[in-house]
Amino acid sequence: MKTAIRNVELENIIDEIGKLDTDTILLVVDHQIWSHYAKDLVIEKIENKKVIFWKSPDGEKVKNINDFQNAIEFFLEKGIHRNAHLVAIGGGAVSDFAGFVAATILRGISWSVVPTSLLSMVDASIGGKVAINSKSGKNLIGAYHMPQNVWICSKFLGTLPEVEKASGMGEVLKYCFLDYGIYDLAIKKAPIEQIINACANYKQKLTDEDFKETGIRKILNLGHSFGHALEFIYNLPHGEAVMWGMVLVFKIFGSEKNINDIIALKNALNIPGKNPPWFNKEFPIDKIMTYLQKDKKISALSSIDLVMVNDIGNAQVERKTFEEIQNVLETNKDELRKFTL
Ligand SMILES: NC(=O)c1ccc[n+]([C@@H]2O[C@H](COP(=O)([O-])OP(=O)(O)OC[C@H]3O[C@@H](n4cnc5c(N)ncnc54)[C@H](O)[C@@H]3O)[C@@H](O)[C@H]2O)c1
Ligand SMILES: [Zn+2]
Repeated sequence: MKTAIRNVELENIIDEIGKLDTDTILLVVDHQIWSHYAKDLVIEKIENKKVIFWKSPDGEKVKNINDFQNAIEFFLEKGIHRNAHLVAIGGGAVSDFAGFVAATILRGISWSVVPTSLLSMVDASIGGKVAINSKSGKNLIGAYHMPQNVWICSKFLGTLPEVEKASGMGEVLKYCFLDYGIYDLAIKKAPIEQIINACANYKQKLTDEDFKETGIRKILNLGHSFGHALEFIYNLPHGEAVMWGMVLVFKIFGSEKNINDIIALKNALNIPGKNPPWFNKEFPIDKIMTYLQKDKKISALSSIDLVMVNDIGNAQVERKTFEEIQNVLETNKDELRKFTL
């Protein structure tokens, strides 16, 4: 099933939910979104439908097995059926979590998303990967379950904290390297709505071609293998970690042009921060290597697929052994410690 991605006004979201072809709605709304937008999302206006409302704890906290069980039991107790439809309103944490609930409850019901963070508008809400976290790592319990609709409303960005905006921009930066059209919009400082739509449509195109990530979809992991390690080591927001993950892969396997492009795009997109998280510190080779070897994207015990960019719009996956990565990090660690953008 292909997801319908559309732009909607804040005041029309409830109407869109009301038009869904079901008599039962499971509504999962991020705690922060509810505190900012409850007055704009008047559930009582959804006529002739039973609406079961579940407020999600703030952000990433919800992606755990206990909340998963709580939500599932709550919905089942209230009485639902196979034609019920789940609607998630929130950032990527809520869409990952709620999408996983939709994928599993009654062996799967249809669902739609209203992404409210920049990161979820350009990335997390698109493509049907849904998951919660395990004690052993992020997103290790999950499924593929395409949403029926993604309703994008950029007005939500008005209340998004700056640090979360910057994080979303890290993913936008990634898309700029994968697609020339998106690069061009970013460099020309096009309105954010245009950039969001271009990223969302680009991701949809790739995920439609390769739903289960056996081929072309893998390029969306640009910056992510190192990024996940940095996110964990330095406790960084996801998109910021992806940006530094790209910087790292470009520094050790890429070109000077990659780095110049990242600087130009970072300025055009107003992404703050010049110093990498490892700046002037001991470069954490061991921690990075340990994390890389746990990455669920590893396809063999001794190697990992990394995404490389020859030039804007020309990315490919290359297999690198852990030994090769460790050696190149050792060789470059002193230079990396001093490097700034
Ligand atoms: N499924 C995928 O393909 C995919 C892709 C990328 C990321 N993800 C997942 O997405 C999650 C990260 O998403 P995220 O960055 O949106 O984080 P998030 O959902 O945790 O949201 C970040 C913070 O912003 C708040 N927030 C969200 N929208 C807001 C708004 N409009 N106004 C005020 N506050 C708002 C949230 O409450 C939270 O505190 C991670 O769990 C990651 O694994 C999934
Ligand atoms: Zn990402």
